Amino acid sequence: MSGRLSGQRIIVTGAGRGIGAEMAKALAAEGGSVLIGDIDEEIARETANAITMAGGKAAPCKVDVRDRASVAAMIAAAVDAFGGLDTIFNNAGIAQVRKFLDISEEDWRAVMDVNGLGVLICMQEAVKVMLKQGSGGSIVNTASIAGKQGYEPLAHYSASKFGVVALTQTAARAFGEYGIRVNAICPGVVATDMWKLIDQGFRDTGLSTSENEAFNSFAETALLGRASQPDDMAGVATFLASADSAFMTGQTLLVDGGIVLD
Ligand SMILES: NC(=O)c1ccc[n+]([C@@H]2O[C@H](COP(=O)([O-])OP(=O)(O)OC[C@H]3O[C@@H](n4cnc5c(N)ncnc54)[C@H](O)[C@@H]3O)[C@@H](O)[C@H]2O)c1
Repeated sequence: MSGRLSGQRIIVTGAGRGIGAEMAKALAAEGGSVLIGDIDEEIARETANAITMAGGKAAPCKVDVRDRASVAAMIAAAVDAFGGLDTIFNNAGIAQVRKFLDISEEDWRAVMDVNGLGVLICMQEAVKVMLKQGSGGSIVNTASIAGKQGYEPLAHYSASKFGVVALTQTAARAFGEYGIRVNAICPGVVATDMWKLIDQGFRDTGLSTSENEAFNSFAETALLGRASQPDDMAGVATFLASADSAFMTGQTLLVDGGIVLD
């Protein structure tokens, strides 16, 4: 396929489903070769197959972003399959609903391990390869509106996403001189399995009573008047991977229909 990302070698983590899967499909449709990283190997294969069937180039890869050896192996697999690495989307993440006073040390570590440490490790291992290649690169992290505002009952999740914004800004400063750009996308309220879990969590903690009540009450704060679908991130993902954003780094782009005005 030819397009704006023709010849680009790309990794997307958490791309088995949800936002990651839709970003991966869009990147492949623009000509990118995309490694589909996910802790769930079966859904990684499904996304890769869907891309291949549509005429794109993709390969699945089992990865646990919390584990450095696993991440290094994923990056080596991309280099093996595609001949190098130009762009990585650090999108894998988990959510957990807990009232502020109920967050345990175990809860904190579980969320921080994937959303914080996982993003750090993926950035470090990708940058090492990009520096060796010597031709720059693009790193795109998935943060959240919760990386801009703290939301109850998602304090530890919000803290992890503020952390993603901090890692984005810091790495942009650290690696700009090598032509490595680092930006983040902040989705709002997106209809994915993650929000099903959050919605269930609101009911379990007694903060809502009916299905989709929490989802709808958050979504209706969007100025554009609707909840987001995973493919709403596709255009900005393609833009951040492409030369169209060549002079942008250290930025966090809210793609939330106007929930948070920054
Ligand atoms: N859904 C939303 O409303 C929303 C809003 C803002 C930000 N986000 C962020 O967007 C990203 C994607 O969210 P989503 O809604 O598509 O969620 P999702 O739960 O549908 O998908 C997340 C994917 O990450 C994978 N994953 C989880 N832990 C992993 C690990 N340790 N290693 C590798 N893969 C792992 C899962 O298997 C899954 O395929 C997350 O970082 C999330 O925090 C989502």
